[in-house]
Amino acid sequence: MNTVRRDIKERTNQISKMQWSLYLFILMGQCCFFTCRLYEYHFIEENKSWSEAQRYCREKYTDLAKVFDMTDMSRLRNSTQNQGEAWIGLKNNTDGNRTWHWSLPGVEYIQNDSSWNLNGRTGNEPPGNCGRKRDKLVDVSCDHTLWFTCYDEMKKDNKTLYLITTPMNWTQAQSYCRSHYTDLASGLDQVDGEEMKDLFNNSTFSVWIGLFRDSWRWSDGSDFSFRYWDMQLFNNEQSNKTCAMTLLNRSGKWSSDECAKEKPFFCYDDKMILIKENKTWEEALNYCENNYKGLVSITNPEVQRWVQEKAKNADSPYVWIGLSYKCTLGLWLWVSDYVVCYNKWATEGKTEGCDMSVGVDRGGQHEWFSRRNNETYNFICSKL
Ligand SMILES: *[C@@H]1O[C@H](CO)[C@@H](O)[C@H](O)[C@H]1NC(C)=O
Ligand SMILES: *[C@@H]1O[C@H](CO)[C@@H](O)[C@H](O)[C@H]1NC(C)=O
Ligand SMILES: *[C@@H]1O[C@H](CO)[C@@H](O)[C@H](O)[C@H]1NC(C)=O
Ligand SMILES: *[C@@H]1O[C@H](CO)[C@@H](O)[C@H](O)[C@H]1NC(C)=O
Ligand SMILES: *[C@@H]1O[C@H](CO)[C@@H](O)[C@H](O)[C@H]1NC(C)=O
Ligand SMILES: *[C@@H]1O[C@H](CO)[C@@H](O)[C@H](O)[C@H]1NC(C)=O
Ligand SMILES: *[C@@H]1O[C@H](CO)[C@@H](O)[C@H](O)[C@H]1NC(C)=O
Ligand SMILES: *[C@@H]1O[C@H](CO)[C@@H](O)[C@H](O)[C@H]1NC(C)=O
Ligand SMILES: *[C@@H]1O[C@H](CO)[C@@H](O)[C@H](O)[C@H]1NC(C)=O
Ligand SMILES: *[C@@H]1O[C@H](CO)[C@@H](O)[C@H](O)[C@H]1NC(C)=O
Ligand SMILES: *[C@@H]1O[C@H](CO)[C@@H](O)[C@H](O)[C@H]1NC(C)=O
Ligand SMILES: *[C@@H]1O[C@H](CO)[C@@H](O)[C@H](O)[C@H]1NC(C)=O
Repeated sequence: MNTVRRDIKERTNQISKMQWSLYLFILMGQCCFFTCRLYEYHFIEENKSWSEAQRYCREKYTDLAKVFDMTDMSRLRNSTQNQGEAWIGLKNNTDGNRTWHWSLPGVEYIQNDSSWNLNGRTGNEPPGNCGRKRDKLVDVSCDHTLWFTCYDEMKKDNKTLYLITTPMNWTQAQSYCRSHYTDLASGLDQVDGEEMKDLFNNSTFSVWIGLFRDSWRWSDGSDFSFRYWDMQLFNNEQSNKTCAMTLLNRSGKWSSDECAKEKPFFCYDDKMILIKENKTWEEALNYCENNYKGLVSITNPEVQRWVQEKAKNADSPYVWIGLSYKCTLGLWLWVSDYVVCYNKWATEGKTEGCDMSVGVDRGGQHEWFSRRNNETYNFICSKL
């Protein structure tokens, strides 16, 4: 395939655009299935306290393991034969500060007061840790039983939201949606969108949506919302068990223990790196090619979310990635020669021009914007 691509590259100046799109058609099928492994898990079979384990991982790898979704969880389990308990990089923040998360992995929680009704609880009901929606969002106790709305990424018949009229508590509703659809409805686009309005059809009732808050934090500071607690063993009240472990003989489900106890642990290692220097796109490209493998290419949602995590730590408003507009061909092309299959363009973020490349927004939903090549931003190199 490599030689084919090189051959295509050499000939691009000679062939017409029409022929070129024929070649692209052939390449297209391949690029989306290209699996970039941008991180890997390492199981360390040495007993250490949680903090010693954290120090070890930060020295030898990137940090204690974090888990984004079920696929990560499956990878983590597959990285060892061990069947005992092992620390992961999740710790309880005991100062009482809880953080809101959307249940669907990858949807970032952004506070927007206009979506909330802070006086929407009934009577003198205390604030809770799960989100209920009527016309607005209300924070209530997770053990109420309510109807709920599931989100389905398959988009059958252009439908993504389903109203389930069997009352369940929040945890049960979440497992129901995860086994029958994708997850509970998550993010303001889903929760305040037209499709949701149609589900309500002008009636007033309350439903669970995928909103919860907890006090657990990842060791590397990322705000992944995925939780895999073993509800039979995990008790969030035992406040001296503030470090999370995976129970490998219980399908990897999580519980917590006292942090001073010594256990084996999982580290993760990043395969890409944010360079916090401001360079033009060309300079960034050269820097990455000389010091690492190259500027990062985002060929699937998984790579996008790792870029998002990195972009948050940038000190420039955008971060360069390896996508730029090729005037001669009249199309956007990755430096890795792949055409764009996956994309996350911002609405009106895409401007075609001979001196344009792509910067990922440091904030918001980390969408893509075309920026002039001569602007200087931080950038992300891939290491492998
Ligand atoms: C983990 O291993 C199982 C069984 O060998 C396999 O079915 C599954 O696809 C693997 N998961 C990942 C993410 O590689
Ligand atoms: C899982 O392993 C732990 C520790 O090794 C042990 O205490 C527990 O009984 C095991 N549980 C199951 C279901 O095998
Ligand atoms: C975690 O911390 C919260 C306060 O931030 C506390 O209410 C809860 O009991 C703690 N849970 C565990 C398992 O330590
Ligand atoms: C609680 O956590 C949020 C999000 O991490 C942070 O913005 C806020 O400042 C924290 N509040 C306190 C009192 O620590
Ligand atoms: C909050 O939501 C409202 C209505 O959906 C929207 O108009 C506004 O721009 C949002 N504010 C922020 C800061 O995102
Ligand atoms: C939800 O219901 C299940 C089954 O009835 C129960 O085991 C669990 O404790 C409940 N969870 C909450 C948060 O109320
Ligand atoms: C699918 O839904 C979107 C938004 O709700 C709408 O704009 C679009 O026209 C629909 N497509 C079809 C084929 O119904
Ligand atoms: C909406 O509600 C009206 C009246 O309550 C009812 O006639 C109609 O069938 C409902 N539409 C849907 C799509 O459920
Ligand atoms: C809800 O009511 C408004 C005005 O009463 C109407 O325009 C709209 O079509 C209704 N929506 C549904 C889904 O029935
Ligand atoms: C943690 O709490 C449990 C129950 O509250 C208690 O039995 C245990 O001794 C405590 N451990 C430590 C180290 O304080
Ligand atoms: C990079 O540029 C931003 C402004 O775009 C600035 O705030 C930041 O300090 C610069 N970083 C370095 C390392 O020069
Ligand atoms: C980048 O190039 C454009 C057009 O050539 C020019 O107008 C602009 O001033 C340049 N910007 C910087 C930061 O050099």
